[in-house]
Amino acid sequence: RIRDGVRDDHEPRRYPTSGVGLVAVVLESGRPLRTDDYAAECAGRGVKPVAGALDMRYWLGVPLSARDRVLGMLVLRSNERPFTEAEEGLLLNTAHLTALALSSVRLYEERTRAYGELAAAQDQLVRTEKLRALGEMASGVAHDFNNLLASVLGRAQLLLRRVQEPQLRQWLQVIERSALDGAQTVKRLQEFTRIRRDQALVPLDVNEVVRDALDITQSRWKEEPTSRGVTLEVRTVLGKVPAVLGDAAELREAMTNLILNALDAMPEGGNLTLSTALVDGRIEIAVADSGVGMTPEVRDKVFDPFFTTKGPQGTGLGLSMTYGIISRHGGSIAVESEPGQGTTFRLSLPRGTDVPGAPPAPIPLSSPPVRALRCLVVDDEPPVRAVIADILESAGHAVVQLGDGGEAIARFAAEPFDLVVTDLAMPRVSGWQVARAVKRVSPQVPVFLITGFGVELTAEERRAHGVDLVLVKPLQIEEILEAVAEVARSHTSAP
Ligand SMILES: Nc1ncnc2c1ncn2[C@@H]1O[C@H](COP(=O)(O)OP(=O)(O)OP(=O)(O)O)[C@@H](O)[C@H]1O
Ligand SMILES: [Mg+2]
Repeated sequence: RIRDGVRDDHEPRRYPTSGVGLVAVVLESGRPLRTDDYAAECAGRGVKPVAGALDMRYWLGVPLSARDRVLGMLVLRSNERPFTEAEEGLLLNTAHLTALALSSVRLYEERTRAYGELAAAQDQLVRTEKLRALGEMASGVAHDFNNLLASVLGRAQLLLRRVQEPQLRQWLQVIERSALDGAQTVKRLQEFTRIRRDQALVPLDVNEVVRDALDITQSRWKEEPTSRGVTLEVRTVLGKVPAVLGDAAELREAMTNLILNALDAMPEGGNLTLSTALVDGRIEIAVADSGVGMTPEVRDKVFDPFFTTKGPQGTGLGLSMTYGIISRHGGSIAVESEPGQGTTFRLSLPRGTDVPGAPPAPIPLSSPPVRALRCLVVDDEPPVRAVIADILESAGHAVVQLGDGGEAIARFAAEPFDLVVTDLAMPRVSGWQVARAVKRVSPQVPVFLITGFGVELTAEERRAHGVDLVLVKPLQIEEILEAVAEVARSHTSAP
């Protein structure tokens, strides 16, 4: 409401809509009313006159109606002369046009709001779809790379066990290191797909997660700025919050990404504030910086995988990973930012029920294997099954290699084996089918499932599928040999 060109913040004067005054009569009936005696008309209709309205006796009121709804009223009052029928007609016309204008304003507002909601829903859909498509691509790439890295790493580690010459050993170690770094990158790629889930969710204190993330990044906000003569102030406002059900490593990673981004945004120093609070029954973590902020264009893209404004130094995966991690935890993430005004990221997580997940039983590592095993290795990729076979043979076990799940099931039914190691994703017959078939024939024979994907299964579900252990590519030689040694030991100790 504007009065004389100035915003008018006074509450509009409201008449009671029933029982008092002639306004109530018109609003209820939806019909115009004209009288030469306000007080008598009120009395005749059984309503109380409005205090302060008795000073004028002539009264004319018409409803503002549009599409069977009364939106308001126009009222004329006078002390001088009665209103005529022609004036009533004129006022009714005016009221009709006013009501039409009012209702089209309302329609316009509703339509604008509906468009806004639609656009927001579409944005959300596009983002989810984009992440899903990229996630799918990334996990395909990750799977292929894992197979490549499996042979590179396996061969390098096998050679390291044979080669004595220091120079050659050093070169091999470089190959081993690079393959492991490659595996780390693949893991980062897999982080923002929902496929990786090898850790059970446990109740966590987010305040501890925040403190840990600050510890991890300390050199970046303490030592490094001090050495450049820049002042960076870090503040924590940690509220008392209930536990969340989560994966501590993942949440630490999410917080670390947000902190590092905030520090990158404050090259000349500034303030970083980390706070936690219980908001509407959810746990909110806010990371606020006083840095350079973002334009709306940048802000719209921050969660896109590979979006970065940092040139070659940035991978643009930090925030898409954070987004993936937070969605996996049933949470949401929002960003507020203006250029030059700093940035605040807000995470909202559901509170966890206080049921601690059972920690996975550790594989005891002790004495070396004492008995050679007959192993069946199934993988459709020849270089991968060859490297697994070589690893097992290097530890003195006998190996039969096959490239097809169906063949493996037939072979297992025909010959005794002590251990089956099978790839998960194979054409025709999958690793799960191999595992189930093996357990049908000999439930006591362990089955190891090898996969390039993290497998989203609990220990119980794995057992129900007939799988004793899941090994994730690229395989580390020690990991396979220790697991196999454990099988060999149990064979020796069995009666
Ligand atoms: N706190 C912030 N202030 C200003 N800009 C930010 C902030 N956080 C993120 N951004 C913008 O979002 C982009 C994407 O961030 P993201 O963490 O995904 O990737 P990155 O930091 O560029 O690279 P990476 O984290 O992989 O090293 C950044 O390049 C930056 O432009
Ligand atoms: Mg980042």
